[in-house]
Amino acid sequence: MSYVASRLSVVKPSASMAASQAAKALRAKGVDVIDLGLGEPDFPTPLHIIDAAHFAAKAGQTLYTAAAGTPEVREAIAGKFRRENGLDYTADDIVVANGAKQIIFNALMATLETGDEAILPAPYFVSYPEMVKLLGGVPVVVECPETTGFRLTPVLLEKAITPRTKWLFLNMPGNPSGAVYSESDLEALGAVLARHPQVLVLSDEIYEHILFDGREFVSFGKACPELKGRTLIVNGVSKSYAMTGWRVGYAAGPAPLLKAMSTVQSQSCTSVCSIAQAATVAALNGPQDEVARFRQAFERRRDLVVDGIRKINGLTLSPPEGAFYAYIGCASLIGRKTPKGVVLEDDTAVSNYLLNEGRVASVPGVAYGLSPYFRISTATSEEVLTEAIARINAAVAQVE
Ligand SMILES: Cc1ncc(COP(=O)(O)O)c(C=O)c1O
Repeated sequence: MSYVASRLSVVKPSASMAASQAAKALRAKGVDVIDLGLGEPDFPTPLHIIDAAHFAAKAGQTLYTAAAGTPEVREAIAGKFRRENGLDYTADDIVVANGAKQIIFNALMATLETGDEAILPAPYFVSYPEMVKLLGGVPVVVECPETTGFRLTPVLLEKAITPRTKWLFLNMPGNPSGAVYSESDLEALGAVLARHPQVLVLSDEIYEHILFDGREFVSFGKACPELKGRTLIVNGVSKSYAMTGWRVGYAAGPAPLLKAMSTVQSQSCTSVCSIAQAATVAALNGPQDEVARFRQAFERRRDLVVDGIRKINGLTLSPPEGAFYAYIGCASLIGRKTPKGVVLEDDTAVSNYLLNEGRVASVPGVAYGLSPYFRISTATSEEVLTEAIARINAAVAQVE
C-alpha cells in the first residue's frame, strides 16, 4: 500500500533545507562544513519583542484568536503599511498566518482551480512552484537573465500571460538574486497587467527592509494603486526582525480573497500563536533601530562577499541590491573536471563539489529555475564568510 497521495508526487522537498541537511550529515561524520544553505538572520530577536511575548503570556493572552489575527496585530500591520509603504489599508484588509509561506499557501489554496497558471519570474523562491503544483496549478517559469538584472520585463510578462493565468508572483528584493524593482519598473509591469484583468498579483515583500546602497523600497501596491483590487501584498516579521522561528506572516488585499484565505486558515490551523501575534505588535509598533542595524550588517557582508567572489577566477557575481544572498554564476566551471576526474555537468555538480571538497554548503541554481548558478546565504558573521570564500576559492582553483 502507499501512504502518500498522488498530489504529492509532483512536489519536491525544499532545496535549501536539503542543502542544510547534507551539511549536517557531513558534520555528524566529523567534517567541518560551513553551512551557507539556509537563509535566516543570525541575530537574536530584539529583546523588547521577547519581553512583549513574555508579558502577553503572563497576562493570559494564551487562547485561540480570530483566524485572520487579533484586532491589535491587524491594526499594527495596517499602521505599518500606512507609515512605511504609503498604503491605505484598514485592519479589515489584513490577515496573518504562520509565516509568509502559509499566507502564500492559503492564497493559492483559496484561488487555484486545477490547471490555473502562476507566472514565476526565475530565479524564484524555491517554495513557489512546489506550492502551485501541490494545489493543482501549473507554474509558468519565465527566466529573467542576469542581463535584465534578474528582473521580469514587460515584454517577458506579456509573452507569458494566457487566458489561464491566475497569478503573477513578484518578489523584491528577490531571493535568491537580491534584485529590486524601481517604481517605474513596476509601473511598466502594471501597464501590461491592466490589459489582462484575470491576473492577480502576489507581491512578496518580505525582504523590504534589507535594501542596499541607499535604495528606497517601493511596494507594488504603491506603484500600481489601480490594481489594488487584485493585488495581495505579502510580508512578515521573519527577516526584518530576526523572527523566523516565531512564524508570523501577513498580507493585505481585497476582502473576498482575504475572507477565503481566513476560511482555509480556520479549518487548517485555527490561528497563529497568540503570543507570537503579541510579539509582532511590539515588533511593528516598537523601536526600529535594530532593523537598521541588521540592514547595515547585511550590507557590509554583501560588500565582503561581492569583493571576495569577484576575485575568484571562474565565478561571477552581480552585486545584490537587497536581501541576504549571493547568486553566484558558475558558467565557466561547467564541463570542467574536479581533481578526482568528475566532470562538473551542471550547477548541482558544482554545488556538490563545493560541499564535498570545499566544505561549504550552497544551493544549486536549478532549485531556483535559473542555471548555472549557486546561492549562498550571507546571513552569517564576516569571519565565517571570509573563511567560506577562502574555501570556495581553493576548491575552484583546483578545477581543471
Ligand atoms: C521570498 C521569500 N518569501 C517567503 C519566505 C518565507 O518567510 P516566512 O518565514 O515568513 O514563512 C522566504 C523565506 O526564506 C522567502 O525567501
